[in-house]
Amino acid sequence: MLIQLPADTVPSEITPRAVFDKRREFLKGLAGTALAAALPKSACAGEKFSATLKSPWSTTETPTPYKSVTTYNNFYEFGTEKTDPAQLAQRMKTRPWQISIEGLVKHQKSFAIDDLIKMAPLEERIYRMRCVEGWSMVIPWLGLPLATLLKHVEPQGATKYVEFISAADPKTMPGVASAVLDWPYLEGLRLDEAMHPLTILAVGLYGEVLPNQNGAPLRLVVPWKYGFKGAKSIVKIRLTDREPWTAWMKAGPREYGFYSNVNPAVDHPRWSQATERRIGEFAKRRTLPFNGYAEQVAGLYTGMDLQKFF
Ligand code: MTE
Repeated sequence: MLIQLPADTVPSEITPRAVFDKRREFLKGLAGTALAAALPKSACAGEKFSATLKSPWSTTETPTPYKSVTTYNNFYEFGTEKTDPAQLAQRMKTRPWQISIEGLVKHQKSFAIDDLIKMAPLEERIYRMRCVEGWSMVIPWLGLPLATLLKHVEPQGATKYVEFISAADPKTMPGVASAVLDWPYLEGLRLDEAMHPLTILAVGLYGEVLPNQNGAPLRLVVPWKYGFKGAKSIVKIRLTDREPWTAWMKAGPREYGFYSNVNPAVDHPRWSQATERRIGEFAKRRTLPFNGYAEQVAGLYTGMDLQKFF
């Protein structure tokens, strides 16, 4: 991200219409059935979740083809090329997988991923996603509100921020041998951002278990912020009273701020953020404040100078 200019390439791999329509029908079918989420038999990428809830938070925009969502990725633990994660992330083992919740909480806990998934019914959330490099996608995630997990562990009164720490295993992640970022990948949110109903922990996309390259088995999704806030393959969530010093802030403090709200009015020092290219489309679109979620989230930043707190 730091080292590449916005990519203008449009991936040629577009899911054929018939396959896409079949997926949509499948998802619609799921939404109408049982309420509780059920795990697939063996939680391998590509396995379907047997039930999901539809969410009022979803956009009605057309989702980006599955193929693009799963082959055009940023996951520097597996290399800095967009195609590296799809090729190399398959070596990462996502079962067994523990996620520990630490810091300023009443109940410090470690969850096995399959127990965490069962904590709440999984919801399909079709979100617009905007990458800081200038491309965007619409992704049908499956996940649970982060607030559900945080309420379960009960943040202490002094908690102001939440940190998300990704796996960094040199045995399976060739990218962590490079100094491109300070590993492990670390991201953070203010507590009220973390508790916002739009913020989810995703465990799937397109009705299926999350592919490794998209951050299996568990990743953060915050649709009104640039994509890098969405830490992948999380192993630790830490509640704290100090503003987290994120991996991207360490790499380029002038370029990447803590808030990283999508803001067409604040340029990246090396390029404009006013427009974006939706993957699969040719014409550029105007980028919307808070990625089009201003109505839901602008109130979190009342009175803040968003040029300063970028
Ligand atoms: N999480 C980890 N652990 N490592 C990364 O390199 N890249 C971020 C974010 N989460 C990244 C990460 C960036 S820059 C983006 S744009 C999104 O993941 C991309 O998510 P996607 O590949 O599912 O679209």
